[in-house]
Amino acid sequence: MAAEHTIIDRNAPIGVFDSGIGGLTVAREIMRQMPDENIVYFGDTARVPYGSKSKNTVIRYSRQIAHFLRTKQVKAIVIACNTASAHALEVLEAEQDIPVLGVIKAGAETAAKTTKNGRIGVIATRGTIDSGMYEQVLREIDPEFRIFGKACPLFVPLVEEGLTHDFITEEVARRYVKDLQYKDIDTMILGCTHYPLLRTLLRKVMGEEVTLVNPAYETAIELKQLLQEKGLDRQADRSEPAKYEFYVSDLADQFQEFANSILPYDVAGTEQIDIEDF
Ligand code: DGL
Repeated sequence: MAAEHTIIDRNAPIGVFDSGIGGLTVAREIMRQMPDENIVYFGDTARVPYGSKSKNTVIRYSRQIAHFLRTKQVKAIVIACNTASAHALEVLEAEQDIPVLGVIKAGAETAAKTTKNGRIGVIATRGTIDSGMYEQVLREIDPEFRIFGKACPLFVPLVEEGLTHDFITEEVARRYVKDLQYKDIDTMILGCTHYPLLRTLLRKVMGEEVTLVNPAYETAIELKQLLQEKGLDRQADRSEPAKYEFYVSDLADQFQEFANSILPYDVAGTEQIDIEDF
């Protein structure tokens, strides 16, 4: 967290990063809930996926990205990736003198408030499930919670192929969540940035009785509160609309196409950088 003596410019941009395109679901919520804030987004499209990589590798990548974002003078960093939040939040919090926020705490807290029977499902990448981070945060809130995790590694490529409403994805989803359906869960955390894009399909598969929690939404609320508390929310000059910058480590055109399909804003340019330089 920010050291007391650090002077941070409240009009500086918020740095948001993900292993690729998925974090745009978090950026989208920040844009909706804080339309005055400037954002610098980095998607690590050259090294995606993080979900199948080791903790040490994800920490190394996250550190490089934080260094890059600091060159853009960001006032806070949002780790808009569940896997990177699970593995690298603690490290970045300790190393950075600006606020760093992950998506797991917000998602877990919402699920804790939502559940009535204390039985919560978590679907995420293998890395996030194996880290046990959602479980840890939920148990800190209430040790009596029963938590059931399920890694769904095929969801990320299916979303990236644009198959969000396809019968193949529905069939894959049915197989993945079959176990969870017998556990009597009433709440399910969409613990991966891509999964909110499968919301309609997951709703169909899980039924109306199970509440789906999207950590992106709550993360944006938490960020807004944090910036206000610290006096770091942008003092907008209405004649100057918020600026959004996008950087990736590979395939800028492909990223931009995807960004334009999900953001409520026209992404004019995406710059490719060499993240290994940071
Ligand atoms: N952004 C990742 C997450 O939320 C999903 C994609 C990946 O595996 O890198 O866990």
